[in-house]
Amino acid sequence: MRAKIPYLGIRQKKVFDNIMSQIADSVQKEEDEFARSTTGNVAERDAPGGSECDEENEHNSRYREKEYWDKRFTKEDKYEWLCAYNDVKDYIVRDICVHDKILVLGCGNSTFSADLHDAGFHNVTSVDFSPNVIEAMKKKYNDSHPSLEWQVGDVRQLDGFPDKSFDIVIDKACLDALVCDEGDPWSPNERTKNDMYATLKCVARVLKRNGVSNANHRKFISIGFQQPHFRKRYLINDHFKFGWEDNVETFPINVGLGYFYMVCIPKCREI
Ligand SMILES: C[S@@+](CC[C@H](N)C(=O)[O-])C[C@H]1O[C@@H](n2cnc3c(N)ncnc32)[C@H](O)[C@@H]1O
Repeated sequence: MRAKIPYLGIRQKKVFDNIMSQIADSVQKEEDEFARSTTGNVAERDAPGGSECDEENEHNSRYREKEYWDKRFTKEDKYEWLCAYNDVKDYIVRDICVHDKILVLGCGNSTFSADLHDAGFHNVTSVDFSPNVIEAMKKKYNDSHPSLEWQVGDVRQLDGFPDKSFDIVIDKACLDALVCDEGDPWSPNERTKNDMYATLKCVARVLKRNGVSNANHRKFISIGFQQPHFRKRYLINDHFKFGWEDNVETFPINVGLGYFYMVCIPKCREI
């Protein structure tokens, strides 16, 4: 049977044209938003290059600057870097218990902390050095997720948190922001090394110690794009011992360009 093509009078045609132009506008808006967000994606566009990529490094260096994030968070409501909670949920449920006290580093405006909550992990504190995003996240989740805590803080100090206060610390693309202009990954610049060591010392400090009864329980989990070979050179180095030197494992995240889920388990000892 042939479909009937309706005849449009002048008024109907105007309505029809109006609707079509609204659809075109909203498609254009979505395309603009997509283009804007992908240019800000560390993983897809701006993975740090070697020392020969000076121009790119200069561009990447904005990811370590608080001013860049402060400004970005005045305009951006939500952005998920690298991968979503669902892409790592199998690892998360394997590694974390529902009653664990969890600290999320550099939370940004990602839904990751709320996703953890929705998956049953209710004891989650998130930290970011941008007051703009922390204010926005408090506002966004205050009613729907009142048990989530949000705190302004620099991961290189974590001075708002006492020693041995978390079972789990999770980084998702925050360390990636710190290494974004490291230069030659075989020989990163001093500034990046200092920032990474300072952050990892804080992580080791705020993690509770593993005892005999919970030998592999307390963990630092790092989700990122940096090749494990290079990330491990920060996690295990000749200058500082974080306690997890013998116990760092890597698992693949097979989405997008491919990322890495690293688990560091500190042994039972004083740092
Ligand atoms: C690449 S984004 C990742 C955001 C979020 N974790 C995600 O996965 O979508 C990096 C985040 O780390 C934060 N950040 C960068 N350096 C930081 C620092 N030194 N202390 C605390 N937060 C930092 C930024 O404000 C930003 O929210």
